[in-house]
Amino acid sequence: MSNMQTSSTSSEPSAAATSEQVVDPWNVQGGADGKIDYNKLVEQFGCSKISPELVARIEKVTGKPAHPFLRRGIFFAHRDLSEILDCYEKGQPFYLYTGRGPSSEALHLGHLIPFMFTKYLQDAFNVPLVIQLTDDEKTLWKGLDVDEARRLARENAKDIIACGFDVTKTFIFSDFEYVGGAFYRNIVRIQRCVTMNQVRGIFGFSMEDSIGKIAFPAVQAAPSFPDTFPHLFGARKDIRCLIPCAIDQDPYFRMTRDVAPRLGHLKPALIESCFFPSLQGESGKMSASDNSSAIFVNDTPKSIKDKINKHAFSGGGATLEEHRSRGANLSVDIPWKYLNFFMDDDVKLEEIGREYGAGRMLTGEVKAEVIKILTDMVQRHQLARSQVTDAVVDAFMAVRPM
Ligand code: TYM
Ligand code: TRP
Repeated sequence: MSNMQTSSTSSEPSAAATSEQVVDPWNVQGGADGKIDYNKLVEQFGCSKISPELVARIEKVTGKPAHPFLRRGIFFAHRDLSEILDCYEKGQPFYLYTGRGPSSEALHLGHLIPFMFTKYLQDAFNVPLVIQLTDDEKTLWKGLDVDEARRLARENAKDIIACGFDVTKTFIFSDFEYVGGAFYRNIVRIQRCVTMNQVRGIFGFSMEDSIGKIAFPAVQAAPSFPDTFPHLFGARKDIRCLIPCAIDQDPYFRMTRDVAPRLGHLKPALIESCFFPSLQGESGKMSASDNSSAIFVNDTPKSIKDKINKHAFSGGGATLEEHRSRGANLSVDIPWKYLNFFMDDDVKLEEIGREYGAGRMLTGEVKAEVIKILTDMVQRHQLARSQVTDAVVDAFMAVRPM
């Protein structure tokens, strides 16, 4: 486990004291300048950057245009993605695995990023997908009652299904419901391979953390192995796994990749995104625990408008004259960053960047564009979610062959 760096403890963000950047599944905090240095992360974690050549190869292999998240460098890092493309070209099967820790009633826009991207991957490659809802994780970390976490898992499943996944190729499971059988046998196999010293090094656990937290990483690791799902893959060990997620989840899968060969398994491949920033700026990821930092998929149009207008950090000039003469600082401007995530039209996006950066367009005008795009997206989401009944959730979560 040579490239596993020590991170903060799970319960207390330590970065403030040291001004070192911290990125792990529980804390995301920029370095001294407040920003997250993604190049440094790639180096620290030992993953690779996604090159333009790799994006071109994805287009060639799938015969479909690359998702804007790929073209614009939002999904920017990977592990073993070329191996997945090799095996796809040879007609060998692989599957997708992603997940969500149900800590809030509704998802925020940051959570949508991996799910929207996973939907594109499922369609482009036509492969099975498993989605883990870690209600156990959130019980252990957020102090949620077990039944409350189970309820949130089902609520979140509706938001996930509303992203448009194909029920004939998608299995959604919650840990509290599905752990047992082959899944539990893999969890224990993984647990036996990882020492206390190693999890402490990877996740920063301390002697004060509950034994549940220390054991949990194996639960997130196990779905990376196909024989965790006998109803989908039988006892096969030769089906590769590709995991789309934001880079905060990387520690779990460094651990998984480390133990895989010892258990006779292939290492899971990863495709990782940067963070959709909070309204206040780039120092962290949008977080569900702070309502004014995040836009949720159940926000009203008025609330979206207010949040963007009041809270979205602007890189525009302090006065009109200053803005006209110096232009906006796009590298810190949140409305501009949000457009990069969600404005489909490349030509219009470039034009806004040019005009706003030169001071010819004002922050208010850019914010109006963002409000329009986000309101439209959230309303479409709400309509799709309103059609997800309990019976639909049951269908996605049924243990069944596909
Ligand atoms: P959770 O619920 O914290 O986050 C769900 C997914 O959303 C990503 N994410 C973000 N992406 C972009 N910008 C943001 N601001 C942002 N915030 C969160 C996360 O990286 C994640 O992909 N332990 C996991 C659940 C899980 C999982 C998995 C995730 C279980 N198995 C496999 C990915 C892959 C969790 O609590 O995610
Ligand atoms: N990942 C970029 C960063 O390093 C942020 C970003 C958001 C971005 N949208 C983009 C970069 C579109 C290029 C294109 O901060």
